[in-house]
Amino acid sequence: MAGLPYIVGNWKMNGTRAMLSEVRAIDRSAARFPKVQVAVAPPATLLYRVRDAVEVIGIGGQDCHAKDSGAFTGDISAPMLKDAGADFTIVGHSERRTLHGESDADVRSKAEAALAAGLAAILCVGETEAERDAGRAEEVVGGQLEGSCPRIDGAPEKLSVAYEPVWAIGTGRVPSVEDVAAMHKSIRDKLVAIYGAGGADVRILYGGSVKADNAAELLSIPDVGGALVGGASLTAESFLAIVGAAASLADD
Ligand code: 13P
Repeated sequence: MAGLPYIVGNWKMNGTRAMLSEVRAIDRSAARFPKVQVAVAPPATLLYRVRDAVEVIGIGGQDCHAKDSGAFTGDISAPMLKDAGADFTIVGHSERRTLHGESDADVRSKAEAALAAGLAAILCVGETEAERDAGRAEEVVGGQLEGSCPRIDGAPEKLSVAYEPVWAIGTGRVPSVEDVAAMHKSIRDKLVAIYGAGGADVRILYGGSVKADNAAELLSIPDVGGALVGGASLTAESFLAIVGAAASLADD
């Protein structure tokens, strides 16, 4: 699998200008970890400010609309994110799928819109606890990939997939190393089935209660190419501890 470990903070609906000091501190320290690719997805209201505040890290949106413009009150398009300085956008986060009723087809259209606008896309997938308990986790995630992966010509260089088990988000619970390894292998196989050889290079991130004390273990699992971090990305101190763990592994 190609590429530096990719550590992405998803601030969700958190952050006002008062948090710009955190992102500045993250950016300054990220410069000391050249073997880790670091990015933050602040709320859209902060994108312009964050763009001006950082030099090293990537910045992104948390969602985008599938259309470029139009009568869609409250929505933000991929070209708008690009115009605000975003490098990427997250699509298909479970909070969007569940709370906003987004289907796989919706997520696929959003991912395709992001790539068409020149943004990278982080496409989220993950099973619920009931689905895992029923032994259906890999089948569910495979189905989400089948339905929501962007269909594009050539290798999907600007695509990352984030495996985020819904039951691990914000709960402090994480799957076992064996379960993460099995799921990431299953995602890899599905990406190769969808994209051919190019699917081998798509980065697969893990997300769900990643913290300083479990980051090294999670990031050491085969085919875990980085982490999508929620709560622990909200302060520079806790986020940089995760970036530091990734850097230590990259140095080994
Ligand atoms: P937590 O790290 O807070 O569990 O959130 C994970 C997540 O949803 C990132 O997108």
